[in-house]
Amino acid sequence: MTRILVIHGPNLHLLGQREPDQYGHTSLEEINQSVGELATSLGVEVEIHQTNSEGDIVTLIGELSASVDAILINPAAYTHTSVAIRDAIAASGLPAVEVHLSNIHKREEFRHHSLTAAVCSGQISGFGAESYLLGLRAAVSLAQSSHA
Ligand code: DQA
Repeated sequence: MTRILVIHGPNLHLLGQREPDQYGHTSLEEINQSVGELATSLGVEVEIHQTNSEGDIVTLIGELSASVDAILINPAAYTHTSVAIRDAIAASGLPAVEVHLSNIHKREEFRHHSLTAAVCSGQISGFGAESYLLGLRAAVSLAQSSHA
């Protein structure tokens, strides 16, 4: 069965309470539930992790890349700073989709640049919690076409 590794980066455990004007009122638990439901309806498995630590994201990608078919990642603030996460995604050799709840291109200038997007197949940004569902569909289709 197709397996997708879903990674939520720093501060995303606070969704629902954190800057709702930017990120909406949906909690991470609710997002994970919708991701799980969509995965079931698409006939795929998801393995979901949230961590505030850059090193843990690198380790997760490294340890799980052999047992998943694609990565769906919101690197959060590390999007704009992390060469280590970029290198881990590239090293995995897996198709990856970067998602953001907010439209990072519409916000402060320091958020306009993503260090990680260039090693992903694409980026989905600005659709709130729906970004994850669009991203999951993209990741599944990439995973399944790379196995075809
Ligand atoms: C974010 C955007 C980032 O700039 C920010 O640091 C986040 C969340 C988003 O999902 O919109 O923590 O990745």
